[in-house]
Amino acid sequence: MFKSAKEPVTPEGLQYHIHLKPGDIPRYVLLPGDPGRVPLIASFWDQSRLVAEHRGFVTYAGIYKGVALAATSTGIGGPSTAIVVEELLRVGADTFIRVGTTGALQDYIRLGDLIISTAAVRMDGTSKSYADPEYPAVASYDVLLALVEAAESLGVRYHVGITASSDSFYVGQGRPGFRGYLPQKWKGVEHRLRELNVLNFEMEASTLFTLSNIYGARAGAVCAAIANRVTDEFDPQAGIVDLVRVANEAVKILYEWDKLRELRGKKYLSVRLISGST
Ligand code: URA
Repeated sequence: MFKSAKEPVTPEGLQYHIHLKPGDIPRYVLLPGDPGRVPLIASFWDQSRLVAEHRGFVTYAGIYKGVALAATSTGIGGPSTAIVVEELLRVGADTFIRVGTTGALQDYIRLGDLIISTAAVRMDGTSKSYADPEYPAVASYDVLLALVEAAESLGVRYHVGITASSDSFYVGQGRPGFRGYLPQKWKGVEHRLRELNVLNFEMEASTLFTLSNIYGARAGAVCAAIANRVTDEFDPQAGIVDLVRVANEAVKILYEWDKLRELRGKKYLSVRLISGST
């Protein structure tokens, strides 16, 4: 028996879904949707070990270029992402980077390019359980900047802008459902978002950003364009290795900036702080 239904923790002190306890992971956590991507992320680390695997939520912890980090799979969509974020916060994480795949909505975005989100259109249901629709789903500016810096330093093609997060891979993203079913509401949604200069469709960023802002945690998102909805191309492997390299490198950069902030007694990151003139 668990002690509480309100705060479900196993008798061993593990969070109900992710099976982690305080001390199992450091503050920086990478969040791919796919559990299979967790060992791929960890394969770039100097040390890594499987910490937990429960209900499709896989966690590795380890060291990348001297920085302690972890990776946990969120599964697909807002509901499971919110569970993972809720439980990771309870065991001590405070900085998250979504490491996902996405469908590009602009014709100039090539398959394999990375998209770094500044914010997410909240077309999901889960974030609505947490905040009114007016509440913005925005990335943390320091995580966003670390992702840009990582992509620059690795020479990877990337774009920065607004993402749309949907609860639905098919009709909610304007793809015909079974037997062509497509409610009027979603017909041409990809074109309407493109006109609004939205870069891409995915399914988790809005939930991650909303929860992270509410709880005072930091979050960013980088996704590989495996689809382009304008050119109608799809390659599930496009950009995956670049994606993983950039996400890992961003953690190292963020760690260095965090150390600098601490050293200089600064609460916020600024260009002057990074460039060493303050
Ligand atoms: N993930 C999505 O949510 N949509 C796509 O088109 C590709 C990946």
